[in-house]
Parts: sequence; C-alpha cells; structure tokens
Amino acid sequence: MNGVILSMPLDMHLHLRDHEMLEVVAPLTAHTFSGALVMPNLVPPVKTRDAVIAYRKRILDAVEGHNDFEPYMTLFFDASYDKAFLQELRDDILALKLYPAGITTNSQGGVAHFDIETLRPTLEAMSELGIPLCVHGETNGFVMERETEFMTIYARLASEFPNLKIIMEHITTQAAVELLELYENLYATITVHHLLITLDDVAGGLMQPHLFCKPIAKRPQDRAALLDVALRAHPKVMFGSDSAPHPQHAKESCGCAAGVFTAPIALQLLCDIFDRHDALENLQAFVSTNAENIYGICPAFKEVTLIRQPFLVPEKYGSVVPMYAGQTLPWSIGSVQ
Ligand code: NCD
Ligand code: ZN
Repeated sequence: MNGVILSMPLDMHLHLRDHEMLEVVAPLTAHTFSGALVMPNLVPPVKTRDAVIAYRKRILDAVEGHNDFEPYMTLFFDASYDKAFLQELRDDILALKLYPAGITTNSQGGVAHFDIETLRPTLEAMSELGIPLCVHGETNGFVMERETEFMTIYARLASEFPNLKIIMEHITTQAAVELLELYENLYATITVHHLLITLDDVAGGLMQPHLFCKPIAKRPQDRAALLDVALRAHPKVMFGSDSAPHPQHAKESCGCAAGVFTAPIALQLLCDIFDRHDALENLQAFVSTNAENIYGICPAFKEVTLIRQPFLVPEKYGSVVPMYAGQTLPWSIGSVQ
C-alpha cells in the first residue's frame, strides 16, 4: 500500500503546556488529530473548574483555524475532591489524571500514599459519575521495576472500584499488558516511542536526552509485548503519544528533563511501524476507534492521508527538538481534510 487514510485520529495522552510552548505545539497536533486528551500537569496543576475552562480557552486560541480539533480536558487528581465538586465540572472534563507525588514532571502535588481508604470517597464519586481515571503507574522503586511494582496498585484499584474505568497510561512493560486481561475495567494507552525504542536506545551508547522519558523505555521483550497488542489493535489499548515537549536547553543539560516530543511525527511513525508489520488495516482502530469506544467520544470529522514519501524531520519546532530530528522517515502526511 502506498497511501493510508485515517479518519479522526486521536491522541489520548498529550502534553500541550502553556503560553509560548502551547502556541508552538498545539497547532502541530490540531493539524492532524481530531482530538487529544490534554494532561493537567501545568504549574500550578489544573485543579479547578475555572482552571479547566481557562486552559481549554487558551488551547482553542492557540489552535485558531483548526475548528475540527477538540481538546479533551483532564483534571489533576486530588483525594480532597468530593462528588458535588466533580459533578459541577463533569461536562468540562473527560477524565481525571492521577500522578504519584514527585514521580515525573510537575507531579509534586500528586498522591503520596496509595491508601485505598483515603482515595475511596473521590474514586467512588468518579465511579458514580462515570468519570474515567487515568493513572501514571509508577512506584518510586528501582527505575526499571517501577511500572511492574505498580501492578499491585492497579489490581487493587480495579477490583475495589469495578465500575471505574481505569486507564494505565503509557504502559511500557509486559506485566502491564498481561494485567489488561485480568480486569475488565482496565485499559491502556501506548506511546509511539515505546513501540520503537528500548533502554538500549536511550543509554546503551552515548546518552540520548531526546529519548529520555518517564516511564523509561524497557527491555526488548517488553517492547515486543506492547507491539503485539498495538498491532492487533486490542480493543482495550489506544494511542496516546505522551508527547512531552521541553525546551532544548532543558533536555541537553545536566539534569535532563523527562519527555519525548513526537506530536508532529506520531502518525508518520505509526504508519511505518504498522506497515513494517503488515498490520496497516489495524491502525485506524489503534489510533481512533478504540479510543472512541473506551471514552464514548464522537470526534469531529477529519481525514488524514499518509503517503509513502520520505519526510525529513525538522531539527526543531520552536525551541523543541523532536524525536528523530534531522532523520528521514519513510511516510509523510499527504493531505488533511
Ligand atoms: C511528561 C512531562 O514532561 O510532562 N514527561 C514524560 O517523560 N513523559 C510527564 C509524564 O507523562 O510522565
Ligand atoms: Zn504524560
């Protein structure tokens, strides 16, 4: 196949940031995606209805001209939220995002102790209101084991709150793929970079700051497990880029910030991966239909044609260096309608 048409592509885990960075990155996603689930880890985090509404407006201003792009908003999880509070902003958000305290960029105000009884009132209210919970599932253990260690917490949350949809964000391990099968209410997003790289690509040779992210890329067998469910578009997995832009100086420095910037190349890379594995017929489900079903959303019409034509990845978008900067990818965006 030399051309692929994708309808209503969705990115169900995206960092758009704010201010100048927002102005640079938001139009790139709005160009090729019908919608994206926008993460709330701003400084300060998005924790009120006013903050959600104001942030959504800043995003819409930044993507002016792309009326066919919907920013699906999230609220930064806090165990102090009660049902009345959540009910008020039910229609302004698609999900809550839970971060363990201090585990990644701007997550200091996250959950410090996974004590189910402390979390119960908020999680029960979310179950009753039908608000999904997105989770950054890492403990503060040894970096390669953090996600696997978190599986017991996912299992507890899934069994204690059977009516709560729980999305394991940016899964990177075989253990997470296996857990998906055990609980009906567990789902997952998978990034494009975790389908491509392992820890070897990050730190096996010279250190590659632009491939450093949380959760860190894992072992070849983990990548194989992710590829397996993504390529057959398992109905409980969906694409979430976790595209996480940081300015070049914050990446190419001592104390490199975590995050891989993939938004403008995500569809081209996915097309290449699915093509190389003879699975292009499943790309539509992975990048759109599964998310529509899991979240019950109906995005605006958009049709993106990808063509088998070399695409030279720019060295920079604004101050941000993308994954594979300066390299040539085999697929390009042909047209967007
Ligand atoms: C993200 C960021 O920079 O906001 N970083 C990352 O490495 N993925 C936060 C996150 O999703 O962990
Ligand atoms: Zn993220």
